Amino acid sequence: MNILITGGAGYIGTHTCVELLEAGHEIIVVDNFSNSLPVALERVEKITAKSVLVYEADISDSQKMSAIFSAHVIDAVIHFAGFKAVGESVKEPLKYYANNVNGTLVLLAEMQRAGVKTLVFSSSATVYGLPETLPIKESFPTSATNPYGRTKLMIEEILSDFYLADDSWRIGILRYFNPVGAHKSGQIGESPNDIPNNLMPFISQIAVGKRDKLRVFGGDYPTPDGTGIRDYIHVIDLAKGHLSALNHLAETQQKGMGELLTVNLGTGQGYSVLEMIKAFEKASGKTIPFEIVARRSGDIAACYSDSSYAKQMMGWKPLYGLEDMCKDAWHWQKNNPNGYEK
Ligand code: NAD
Ligand code: UFG
Repeated sequence: MNILITGGAGYIGTHTCVELLEAGHEIIVVDNFSNSLPVALERVEKITAKSVLVYEADISDSQKMSAIFSAHVIDAVIHFAGFKAVGESVKEPLKYYANNVNGTLVLLAEMQRAGVKTLVFSSSATVYGLPETLPIKESFPTSATNPYGRTKLMIEEILSDFYLADDSWRIGILRYFNPVGAHKSGQIGESPNDIPNNLMPFISQIAVGKRDKLRVFGGDYPTPDGTGIRDYIHVIDLAKGHLSALNHLAETQQKGMGELLTVNLGTGQGYSVLEMIKAFEKASGKTIPFEIVARRSGDIAACYSDSSYAKQMMGWKPLYGLEDMCKDAWHWQKNNPNGYEK
């Protein structure tokens, strides 16, 4: 297939590019490099020994998007492009609504104009808000607790309206849990611009000597060790989930049908912050100093998926466990202490 990937230079995008190229697909990346660097895609080319066609463009630029859709025959779009920092979204909501929601509207309009009707969209477990029970199923009620989460919910609703208006579209909404880890080569991985907000990159930076100590947000949650529990998923498994979604939607197309499919991509297994520290110490041989501080506002005690629907619908299941997640995150960090920056 010829697949257009928005935000393909980012953390999840680069890993998905590798999986797609290795599966024999042709890819075209559109990225404005607002949160990534072109070198990430050069690394993708190095890993796969294949070339990647890259357009430096903003997905909100309808003229450029229209020209890209005119220049190529595109079978499907995987849509990663967007901003993702929860805290920043609270401070600058307009930036998030403009980029995430408006960007998606422009993309959809251009897809519609070009007659490209297969889309895989990056949603997030954040759309479950504060789940009443665990594990989280796709049928659970959705809500948002911050502007970033609201952009994901809004886009899901837009996609649902879009599908209602024309049910010949094939749309896969993938709700990611907590992506971590890196490619086995140690060539691509997560490269935060600033002080990492997320647990795993913060721990990796401590291990490599860039930060002193982890602040564990809350030791008094109603969990076995009092720290927050999340469903960490290896980024390679997540990337493979996009292939499974595309294959599934292609089967739907072959049947002459349309579909709107919403699935969780998680492992179904939750780990606490203290368990993550221990696992990373084991994988890296480094000590991770930490102190338990107050809860972070907006955090929930525990969040993990029921991942059986993704298996049932797309035949996808995660292959990697916690040991690989930590080992591969460490391999990347050790090889690239400053991420992609020189
Ligand atoms: P990332 O920031 O590494 O990648 C996003 C990419 O999109 C970047 O390369 C950025 O430059 C590009 N981009 C942003 N706005 C753009 C625009 N208007 N036009 C063109 N390119 C643009 O993020 P990621 O971790 O790879 O996440 C990818 C997607 O998955 C995002 O939509 C994110 O919200 C979603 N998601 C991520 C996580 C996570 O924890 N990483 C969890 C759930 C969902
Ligand atoms: N944590 C710490 N210290 C830190 C960072 C995190 O103790 O310095 C804790 C958090 O309190 C939480 C756990 O580690 O218990 C995981 O936190 P992350 O920030 O890594 O991830 P979140 O689950 O808070 O959020 C992430 C993304 C969201 C996304 C969500 C679900 O940041 O955008 O996963 O996909 F919506």
